[in-house]
Amino acid sequence: MSLLTAPPQPSLSAADVARIREDFPILAERPHGLPLVFLDSAASSQKPVQVIDSMDDYYRRYHANIHRGVYHISELATEAYDDARAKVAAFIGAPSADECIYVRNATEGLNLVAYSWGRQHVGPGDTIVLTEMEHHSNLVPWQILAKERQARLRFVRVTPEGLLDLDDLDSLLEGAKVFAFTAVSNTLGTVNPVEHLVERAHAAGAIAVVDACQAVPRMPVDVRRWKCDFMAFSAHKMLGPTGIGILWGRSDLLQGMPPFNSGGGMINVVHLESSTYASPPARFEAGTPAIAEAVGLGAAVDYLQAVGMERIHRYEMELAAGALAQLTQESGVTVYGPHMAARTGVISLTVGDIHAHDLATILDSAGICVRAGHHCNQPLMEKLGVPATTRASFYLYNTPSEVDALMAGIRRAKALFKIS
Ligand code: ALA
Repeated sequence: MSLLTAPPQPSLSAADVARIREDFPILAERPHGLPLVFLDSAASSQKPVQVIDSMDDYYRRYHANIHRGVYHISELATEAYDDARAKVAAFIGAPSADECIYVRNATEGLNLVAYSWGRQHVGPGDTIVLTEMEHHSNLVPWQILAKERQARLRFVRVTPEGLLDLDDLDSLLEGAKVFAFTAVSNTLGTVNPVEHLVERAHAAGAIAVVDACQAVPRMPVDVRRWKCDFMAFSAHKMLGPTGIGILWGRSDLLQGMPPFNSGGGMINVVHLESSTYASPPARFEAGTPAIAEAVGLGAAVDYLQAVGMERIHRYEMELAAGALAQLTQESGVTVYGPHMAARTGVISLTVGDIHAHDLATILDSAGICVRAGHHCNQPLMEKLGVPATTRASFYLYNTPSEVDALMAGIRRAKALFKIS
C-alpha cells in the first residue's frame, strides 16, 4: 500500500511515550538535581538502549574489519554493515541499497555531491540555486564550488512568515544546473514542498539535492515520491550514533561520478601510475568505515520503524502545536517561522531583549536543554534581524509537561530580566 493511500495512523498515547522514555537511559539523569528536559533533538537526538546495545554487542562479540577478512567474525561484521544499509534503503524508499553511501554526516554527504558531481558538471557561468534558509552545510560547499568554477549562486528568498517565496522560482531556476534546498528548516521548522521544488528543478533541467537532516528523523520520507536526485541526512538526529550519515543518490548519477575520498576499499585495480574504481557505494567509502556506527544506525531505523514514522510525526506536531499555542500567548515572546500547517516541532524564539545564550543558561538551570545561537544559519539570522535565537525542538520522547516546563523557564527568565 502506498503512503498516499494508507489509513492515517494514530499519534502516540501518553502510555506509548512513557514506554518509549524507558528505552532512553539518559532521560533518568538529573542535571542540577532536576529532571532532564531534553528539547534539543534537532541538534542531536538521544539514543535508545537498543541502539547503545547494538554497538556494544558489535564491539564485544564480532568486531573486525569488513570486506577484508574471510574469518567468521569479519563475515558477521560485514553482514551487519551491509544489513544496516539495506534497512536504511527500505526506510527511505531507495530502489537499491547500493544507492545509499555511508558518509560521516549530512555535511559530508552534501560536500560529496558538490565536489564530485559539482566539479564534473558545473562550469563557468553556470547557476546553482539555493535558498536563504540553508544550513551552512548546504551553503558553504556550493559557495566554494561556485568560486572555483566561476559559477553563480542564486537564492530563493524567505518570506517574513518563514516560507520560501516561490513566486519567481522558475525564473531563478532558468538555466540552473543544481537546486539544493532543505526539506525542513533547522531554525524555522518550515516544512518545504519538496515534491514541487524537485519538479520545478527538473523542469528547468537542474538536479535537485535535498538536505533531509531534519526531515528523515521526524516524518515519513520516500525518495521515490520526492523524485529528488540526491538526499543527505545524519544518523545522530534520528536516534542513531554520531559519526555516520547517508548520502542517497540516483544510481545513474552515482555511477558517473568520480571518487570524493580515495584509498583502500574504493578501487578495482591499482597500478603504480593509475587505478580503476569500484562501483558505488564502495567507490565513495574509502578507508575503514564507521562499522559500529552503521550497526547503530540500523538499530535506530528498526526502532523508528517499530514505533512508526507517521505516528512520530503526528505526535511531534501535537507537541509543537501545544507549545506554539502557549508561546504565542506569552507576552514578550517572539516566535520565528510559519503557522502550524507549514511547520514541524522545531521552534525558534526570542524573549524580549534577553540574549539567546542567557535564556538558554537560565533554562539549563531548570534542567531544560535547548540550543541557542545562529544554528549554522547566519544569513537567515541577518534576514530575521536578530544575532541569535533560542531553539526548542521536540521528538518522540518529549511530553506535554516538558512543554509546560519550558514555559515556566521562560517566565522565570522574564521575571529575572523584568520583562512583562
Ligand atoms: N545541524 C544541527 C542543528 O541545527 C547541529 O542544531
